[in-house]
Amino acid sequence: MANPKILIIPGSTRTGSHNVKLAALAAKELTLTDIEVTRISLADYELPIYDADLDARAGQPANALRLKQMIMAHHGVFIASPEYSASVTPVLKNAIDWVSRVREKGDPTYAAFKGRVFAIASASPGRSGGLRSLIALRQILELGCGALVIPEQVAIPNAPQAFDDMENIADTGLANAFRGELERLVEMARLMM
Ligand SMILES: Cc1cc2nc3c(=O)[nH]c(=O)nc-3n(C[C@H](O)[C@H](O)[C@H](O)COP(=O)(O)O)c2cc1C
Repeated sequence: MANPKILIIPGSTRTGSHNVKLAALAAKELTLTDIEVTRISLADYELPIYDADLDARAGQPANALRLKQMIMAHHGVFIASPEYSASVTPVLKNAIDWVSRVREKGDPTYAAFKGRVFAIASASPGRSGGLRSLIALRQILELGCGALVIPEQVAIPNAPQAFDDMENIADTGLANAFRGELERLVEMARLMM
């Protein structure tokens, strides 16, 4: 049976980001099970703050189109993103807003968010692991963009201490939940092929 393609997007571009680490771990786990993975950085898709006048005047920036096409080339998308002010990071929200406006010929609305499945996770130095950002991100993806987001999600608390020397999640329960989330993502992405 052919395997689905999974895109991994960290919602942080910070040097030393815990969520980039979590994204890298997702890529490692998926690659070990022979899944084709693409891991990107939103730093490579620099975008102006969404501005409807700019959109009307100049259309969507090339990077919004590139990011939309990158998402559409995959059956599943895994997003690991920090919590900022009890919500998602500006870089992630801005990217989603721009991508949500891109419509190529024949596209339905929110094309990048349809026909594929999303999974979300977060890591934070705080005790809740960024849980509130997952609630916000789920709302944006599901209610805002019509995406299918699997119910499994993992929030990693105490992020600076959460990873061991091999960059794996140190806590066995959380590590198993993370693996379970990835397995479910692949299972659902397979249905999108
Ligand atoms: C503007 C700002 C707001 C933040 N708000 C929260 C928050 O509401 N909850 C939380 O757990 N951490 C919050 N943090 C801390 C981040 O979780 C922490 O900086 C984390 O390391 C960022 O993720 P990263 O390591 O992947 O870049 C905030 C950080 C910044 C810069």
